[in-house]
Amino acid sequence: MDINSINAQVDSEIQGINYKDALEEFRIKYLGRKGILAQLTSTIATLAQEERSQFGQKINDLKNKINMLIGEKQKALSSQVKEEVSFSIDISMPGIVQGLGRLHPITQVMDEICNIFLRMGFCVVEGPEIETEYNNFTGLNIPLEHPSRDVFDTFYLKDYKKLLLRSHTSPVQIRAMKALTPPLAVVVPGRVYRPDAVDASHCFMFHQIEGFMVDTDIKFSDLKGVLEAFAKQVFGQDIKMRFRPHFFPFTEPSAEVDISCIICRGKGCSVCGRKGWLEILGSGMIHPYVFKHVGYNPKKYTGFAFGMGVERIAMLKYGIDDIRLFFENDLRFLRQF
Ligand code: PHE
Repeated sequence: MDINSINAQVDSEIQGINYKDALEEFRIKYLGRKGILAQLTSTIATLAQEERSQFGQKINDLKNKINMLIGEKQKALSSQVKEEVSFSIDISMPGIVQGLGRLHPITQVMDEICNIFLRMGFCVVEGPEIETEYNNFTGLNIPLEHPSRDVFDTFYLKDYKKLLLRSHTSPVQIRAMKALTPPLAVVVPGRVYRPDAVDASHCFMFHQIEGFMVDTDIKFSDLKGVLEAFAKQVFGQDIKMRFRPHFFPFTEPSAEVDISCIICRGKGCSVCGRKGWLEILGSGMIHPYVFKHVGYNPKKYTGFAFGMGVERIAMLKYGIDDIRLFFENDLRFLRQF
């Protein structure tokens, strides 16, 4: 190969080089001990005397040029070199401490409550947060003119008039009863939504746990027994309970359930509003109309249902006076649980 075509070959090859090892290969190919230039040099002896110095000069020029090209390329690749250097690891440096996460207090309380009912033979079922108007209201015997159906009390979905964000977990009664045949005992944890102004005791989203049991001979005393066992496990064996008559369209009779104030033990304080009692849930015997809506024979089956607000239970249990603390994600608060 003549020296001019080698020269041209050098020019085109150096352009295609874009990493360090390739540059080194290139150097060895041309300048190495058995490289192309060394081979050219060895041919000098075969030339006529008068051609030798000129040819030697040409080889020298090419060698200088290649060295220069390599130098330039090295500079160009130096950013890549830096990257390689940064891979070196100082194993004596202290490691990055990964903080262990934990469950949110609401999740903890929900798990605790569900576990209490699981031990009593209930199973856990969940339902969607976007519900039909039918499951949230009609199926539960809540009439069209009921105030809770008003747009001011329920988040309706803009483009789907029959859909809404469920305002309680009771619609899962309809879903579960349609899917199962009695006997059944179910608890339903989940989020619910109401367009309430946010303050120390209200939020537009909160959590509820629904519970219901259906069989051929479920009585109000079963409801009382189950709820008493539940409340004593959450709040302590010495709390007292009372059932106050109330109204829910989907239970008859209905009752609100209070526990004796866990702060003042019934004497009356600011937490219980001097009443000595704290309301913790709504409950009652499932209305025959609800059974009709899910296709159960109301003459054959009876059942009870209850629903409680998880934030309220957690606030009472831990003495928290502002519901907003649960949702502000302040780690100083959350790390206490
Ligand atoms: N769904 C009712 C509420 O949100 C609570 C409830 C559930 C009452 C089941 C009775 C039976 O207020």
